[in-house]
Amino acid sequence: MTSQDSEVTLKQLQKELRILKKKLERTELDRDRLEETNQKKESLLRRAICDLQDNQSILENRNADLESAFNELQRTQDELVEARKMASLGGLVAGVAHEINTPVGTSITLASILIDETRLLQAAIAAKQLKQSTLNNYLEIAQESASLILSNLNRAAELVQSFKQVAVDQAIQEHRTFRLKQYLEEVVVSLSPRFKHTAHTVRIKGDESISIHSYPGAIAQVVTNLIANSLVHAYPNNQSGQLCLEVTQQGDRVIIQYDDDGCGISAEILGKIYEPFFSTARDKGGTGLGLNIVYNLVTQKLQGKIEVRSQINKGTQFEIALPLAIND
Ligand SMILES: Nc1ncnc2c1ncn2[C@@H]1O[C@H](COP(=O)(O)OP(=O)(O)O)[C@@H](O)[C@H]1O
Ligand SMILES: [Mg+2]
Repeated sequence: MTSQDSEVTLKQLQKELRILKKKLERTELDRDRLEETNQKKESLLRRAICDLQDNQSILENRNADLESAFNELQRTQDELVEARKMASLGGLVAGVAHEINTPVGTSITLASILIDETRLLQAAIAAKQLKQSTLNNYLEIAQESASLILSNLNRAAELVQSFKQVAVDQAIQEHRTFRLKQYLEEVVVSLSPRFKHTAHTVRIKGDESISIHSYPGAIAQVVTNLIANSLVHAYPNNQSGQLCLEVTQQGDRVIIQYDDDGCGISAEILGKIYEPFFSTARDKGGTGLGLNIVYNLVTQKLQGKIEVRSQINKGTQFEIALPLAIND
């Protein structure tokens, strides 16, 4: 190798060294930058984790707050339902007392008239001054007041009877699993004395195999009251009616549909039928408690729902939806 050659090589090498140095410098710079961004990223990540942890504990607290608010709400709701039950029972007691007041008050007045008249009669007999006309007059008064006392006391007894039904129904505790259609057939048979002197027919339709876990006594009471109402209210001109009960299952509910093809209920009356003491038939001994009992039994004891539809001169239909199994 000549010295000239060596010089060229050296220069070449020096140049390459410079390039390498520059590259190294740049790489170092890049590494520093990378480290810096990494650190930044790490601190960002750490902050994000911290934020997340904070958020999570806030959420947990909120969740706990919500849960306790929800529990509180549910307790309040239970209390409200209980209070409403008590209020409606209290109202009912006051109402029954008020309703009974009239026939009992009338009976007392009539009985005291009877006593006064009897004393006058006794006095006339003692004085040996009894005239035929006085006796006839007395007998007439006695006859009339006794029969009025009897009808007024009967009215009072009916009211007490209906009210007892409310109280007893609250006490029907027996629940069991039973075949619904078969049970309804038994209920209708037990009501047959009421149909004896009528031309009405009752049909019971639906699947024999539908079983329900519920309070049979309460269901019997509901159906009895509905049928009794059709007999008293739906056929004012003694037409022969077709009454029908149908049982169907819809998911976890059982529907009992009750129909009559009677005179129907007008729209303005329809909204009041469940009110206690609402009756359009007081003269026929109506107490206005029948459908109130039905409503309370279905919605409380039987944990179901009831809907009514009616068309004048077409008939009335009650649809009762009950759970396949009550919660106890
Ligand atoms: N099937 C029916 N057809 C026509 N009207 C009815 C029927 N069921 C109930 N009603 C009406 O609803 C009212 C309230 O019924 P309810 O509470 O059983 O009282 P009550 O039978 O003592 O009058 C009745 O007075 C009557 O006007
Ligand atoms: Mg009735």
